[in-house]
Amino acid sequence: MQLQDILYSQGFGTRRICAGLVQQNQVQISWAGESEARPCTDAAQELNPINLVLRVQGVDWPVHEKAFIMLNKPAGVECSQKPSVWPSVYSLLPAPLRQRPSKGKVAGVQAVGRLDQDTTGLLLLSDDGQFIHRMGSPKKQVAKLYEVTTKHPVQEPQIRQLLDGVVLDDDPKPVRAAGCMQRGMHHIDLTLTEGKYHQVKRMIAAVGNRVEALHRSRIGGLVLPPDLAPGQWRWLSSADLALLS
Ligand code: URA
Repeated sequence: MQLQDILYSQGFGTRRICAGLVQQNQVQISWAGESEARPCTDAAQELNPINLVLRVQGVDWPVHEKAFIMLNKPAGVECSQKPSVWPSVYSLLPAPLRQRPSKGKVAGVQAVGRLDQDTTGLLLLSDDGQFIHRMGSPKKQVAKLYEVTTKHPVQEPQIRQLLDGVVLDDDPKPVRAAGCMQRGMHHIDLTLTEGKYHQVKRMIAAVGNRVEALHRSRIGGLVLPPDLAPGQWRWLSSADLALLS
């Protein structure tokens, strides 16, 4: 694959921009594990993209055929490309992740489901449509763990109701938590396998309490790493991906 095509596939802009980056000596290459990057001035140079690391304008970029990332979403950002009030969560990502092409168009990574503006924690993003679909599919029933802080003390009957099922205003079919564990007077861990709109907040409201703070700490077997600070992102490893399958 030509270097300019690899750069293009990773979201560094049009092929013309990518060729320009190479011609202006802005690109160096190495392979994973190597400490030295070497300059590359031929945009048409054929390279094997597997384990290739691009250094573009001094920043290392490991080549990924598909992008799978996790982000520790802070409060005060919206999971929308065109946010109405708050900044977009996508503004926390570097330009190549927002510009990755798909079928010849700038598509970028997309959030796998959404978290509310005030919800914090684990958010997955990808440019792999099948992965996004699979993770969101009700059939797959991926468990998501939410740490809920409630306004009022949690009562035992509320836990039972959440596990037995509560009716939300727009759906006569009750929704139940796959798990519900009291962690403190105002804290519960709630596990859901669906992703309805404002589901945690509406379920907690349906049992007569109110969400004060909401944090997602796990999706499937993937736990939000404690060293990933709010606002930071990282690539998912193949071991991380296996925890989601
Ligand atoms: N449920 C909610 O109510 N909000 C979220 O952000 C996620 C789940």
